[in-house]
Amino acid sequence: MTTRKRKPSTLCVQGEHTQTSGPAVVPIMQTSTFVFEDQQQMLDSVQGKTGKDVYTRWSNPTTKNVEEKMNALEGTEDTHVLASGMAAISSAIIGLVKNGETILSSDSIYGGTVHLFNKILSQSCIEVDYVDTDELANRLLDSGTAYKLCFFETPTNPTLKIVDIKKVADAARAKGTISMIDSTFGSPINQKPHELGVDLVMHSATKYLGGHSDIIAGTISGPKDLMADVRGAAKLLGGTMDPFASFLLDRGIKTLGVRMEKHNSNASYLAEKLSRNPRIRKVHYPGLSSHPHHDIARKQMSGFGGMLSIELESDLAGTSKFVDSLEVFLNAVSLGGVESLASIPALSTHYGIDERALNEMDISSSTVRLSIGIEDPEDLLDDLMYSLDAM
Ligand SMILES: Cc1ncc(COP(=O)(O)O)c(C=O)c1O
Repeated sequence: MTTRKRKPSTLCVQGEHTQTSGPAVVPIMQTSTFVFEDQQQMLDSVQGKTGKDVYTRWSNPTTKNVEEKMNALEGTEDTHVLASGMAAISSAIIGLVKNGETILSSDSIYGGTVHLFNKILSQSCIEVDYVDTDELANRLLDSGTAYKLCFFETPTNPTLKIVDIKKVADAARAKGTISMIDSTFGSPINQKPHELGVDLVMHSATKYLGGHSDIIAGTISGPKDLMADVRGAAKLLGGTMDPFASFLLDRGIKTLGVRMEKHNSNASYLAEKLSRNPRIRKVHYPGLSSHPHHDIARKQMSGFGGMLSIELESDLAGTSKFVDSLEVFLNAVSLGGVESLASIPALSTHYGIDERALNEMDISSSTVRLSIGIEDPEDLLDDLMYSLDAM
């Protein structure tokens, strides 16, 4: 067997192992429980001595196959695949942060994560301090608070700010703080946070990893010692991935490399074109040289991703009309699938967050988030131009 290091697209299709017999595709092990020869074998397995699966809430072969693939892609020791991105975030936080401890979070994160932090963690006496994306490293180094965990997202949802991953990871390590990134927008193809020093890397695998808008899934990857606590919490919280969804996730990951190339090129093409349109006040895309964090993005990303957002020269009514007039772009939340989607964050993903917090995230009622799919870029541009005229 060769020990040559495989490149990302090969890892997406084959993982790290070499298949020498059996099915070419890992089958769906659709079972809740597993059978043992006798009580001794059962006990050894419950104690983790045999590596055998016992109960699907704890582990399942179809899911383990995806976990191994994610380790290969992220360069981590252990990955847990869960039933959603939120299950991955909540299991990690509950597994690692205890009552009375404090989290430092970037202020530009997914709305669901904000609600989890503000509504659920506050009930468990876990405090969350928010800071501007550019201030994370300084706050870690200068604050008197011994933060247990530093949570951030890059590129951010929905305004595509870029956090300097290495700078934050180094600062966290210097202070003994666990660093955790939501790398959903980047995908394991465009950025490798663990190689830059981040402890835990999570994805809403619902998005680019799954890639076809047909599953809800989450992954969390990191070193074995931290992951033991995450797995322990996940096992009890029960956000378990269904084996059939794991099969679909694996099938999605097989084409991740080629899909990301098209997402990256389509979004770059549209960002350039849209940035010259007078009806658009601002285009947020890290690949544009005008983006305030373009240099950091170039340093840490191998592609700038398929997400962009635009600020229209309009009010909420005009912005709604623009989105409602789109024909190729679907009027839907979520992102990272093969089909292009458009949504207004203030009415959807970030609904219910107070105006001051929205302003801090640079979200207004004329912000439109576009998830650029893999369709022909000319059709996408036509659709956007037609709807700008209709606004
Ligand atoms: C950046 C980001 N993180 C986390 C989540 C939550 O993931 P899920 O919906 O799979 O629970 C989302 C969902 O939209 C997201 O966009």
